[in-house]
Amino acid sequence: MLRTHTCGELTLSDLNKEVTLTGWVQKSRDLGGMTFIDVRDRYGITQLTFNSDDNAELRAQARELGREYVIKVTGKVIERSSKNLKMPTGEVEIKVSKLEILNSAKLPPFMIEDETDGGDDLRMKYRYLDLRRNPVRNNLVLRHKMAQEVRKYLDGMDFIEVETPVLIKSTPEGARDFVVPSRMNPGEFYALPQSPQTFKQLLMVSGFDRYFQIVKCFRDEDLRADRQPEFTQIDCEMSFIEQEDILNVFEGLIRQLFKNVKGIDLAGVPRMLYSDAMRLYGSDKPDTRFAMQFVELKNTTLPETKAPLLWRGGGEAIFPVFDTAELVIGINAKGCAEYTRKQLDELTDFIKRPQIGATGLIYCRHNTDGTLKSSVDKFYTEEDLKKWSAAFNSEPGDLMLIMAGSADKVRKQLSELRLEMGNRLGLRDKNKFSPLWVLDFPLLEWDEESQRYHAMHHPFTSPKPEDIALLDTNPGDVRANAYDMVINGTEIGGGSIRIHDRALQALMFKHLGFSTEEAQKQFGFLMDAFEFGAPPHGGIAFGFDRLVSIFAGLDSIRDVIAFPKNNSGRDVMIDSPSTIAEEQMKELKIRTTN
Ligand code: AMO
Repeated sequence: MLRTHTCGELTLSDLNKEVTLTGWVQKSRDLGGMTFIDVRDRYGITQLTFNSDDNAELRAQARELGREYVIKVTGKVIERSSKNLKMPTGEVEIKVSKLEILNSAKLPPFMIEDETDGGDDLRMKYRYLDLRRNPVRNNLVLRHKMAQEVRKYLDGMDFIEVETPVLIKSTPEGARDFVVPSRMNPGEFYALPQSPQTFKQLLMVSGFDRYFQIVKCFRDEDLRADRQPEFTQIDCEMSFIEQEDILNVFEGLIRQLFKNVKGIDLAGVPRMLYSDAMRLYGSDKPDTRFAMQFVELKNTTLPETKAPLLWRGGGEAIFPVFDTAELVIGINAKGCAEYTRKQLDELTDFIKRPQIGATGLIYCRHNTDGTLKSSVDKFYTEEDLKKWSAAFNSEPGDLMLIMAGSADKVRKQLSELRLEMGNRLGLRDKNKFSPLWVLDFPLLEWDEESQRYHAMHHPFTSPKPEDIALLDTNPGDVRANAYDMVINGTEIGGGSIRIHDRALQALMFKHLGFSTEEAQKQFGFLMDAFEFGAPPHGGIAFGFDRLVSIFAGLDSIRDVIAFPKNNSGRDVMIDSPSTIAEEQMKELKIRTTN
């Protein structure tokens, strides 16, 4: 080693030791005949002193050092006269006797400090410099710790880590594939895996019993804060299990991670049916850090006998917006009765944004004096509003926010408003963690564009046996043995019990609109494997980047990825994607347009 110690470890107990440190110049200050330099490495910062009285030449040399120079110094550990108790090495400094410049550095384009002045684009271009900053590096240290903890837990549970190929063929999981041309097979392409789904199932047929892999997956989809084109899954599969076993094993994993990485004892992971999640939160990934559940005033999708308030007995026509709506639904924003006109307008503007697309917001204040005042007083009597108040369980000081429309749309829209209110009311504390299993997802989902059913999870997910008969009559009502883990409103993981029977798998493909030939061409290998003794099996994959970002309290997964892509899918540091040489194109037999 070029050093005897790191920049983060020297304390008063090392007084008078002769040490050698290496690192980067963080900053330097001149004070009278002295120069102070902070030298930094991954472990911390140590202060160096150079005194003209001791060695004028050495001090002159020190004054020449620029920010981010790489240096090696030897000197004696002495006690500081003015101590900095905020840092572990803050009680000592090194009286330097020897200085060596290992490398000079150009002035960095932004400050390498916890609070930097660098904008996003600049920091991405010089990501290797951004990674010198503590907050960014700490995220990767956390990621490392979590990966170790995952391996420890799964190894302890007899899971075997197996690598699956990266050059594969398309697996339909809902997103587009990234493809790679094959030089040796002109005109043919590999696809990068959206997940190792089919391989892990084949490993079960091979008898591996318990598999896992911390694995890169690739999806060519529109990017968001929680989506990258390449991301990492903790991918797992088990044989001879039922859904309950998977839930238990992976609840164990999450609890161990919280315990060993964050020191948090999770009470357990509560469970919620998909149908309840949609009904009460309008989302299959509800943020359960706060309640604010939906209250229905009208729901024409229910039989009239079960209908809530506004639709009982057929409901007379009173207010066209409500009269024509399939669903009238709201939330109780506790303590918000005093919201000003401006605040209410802001909320209306929020839900009218094109991303949400609602037409309007109706409110009812439960004033502190107990009176009720709504934005639709013209249409409803005080008696009506009292019934609303009872339905919302409102108290003086509360504000009921109500929306109306077609069931699916209005639930989604209100779900956005609920999250917004959660933000405004400070109910989404990053240091609070609320994990949840969402169970019994629908097997199929209607796709307007292609006018056919798609697999909601993926085509290998097994229907609930009791619902198989519905496949022919009400495909949309068939429930799957599929589950998601949600933490704080983010989908952290998802999985299912798989089909392990050729005939059922073929039936599933048929319902997804595959001809027998297409199914055989794309998935013959899997269906063939099912004929050689496939065990009952199931599994789950966690989005590792998402999990780490939640542990780190961050909004974007970019911050927990060493070299992420920007929102246009570009790596601006290496400037990728990029064109390739004409020669390469020829070799790959790819025709150019001109
Ligand atoms: P699924 O498609 O639900 O399931 O993916 C599993 C988890 O991966 C994360 N994830 C992503 N993270 C970052 N960027 C993305 N673009 C991205 N897409 C997904 C999510 C998600 O919950 N093979 C199945 C799993 C199985 O059935 O076992 C699968 O891939 O956190």
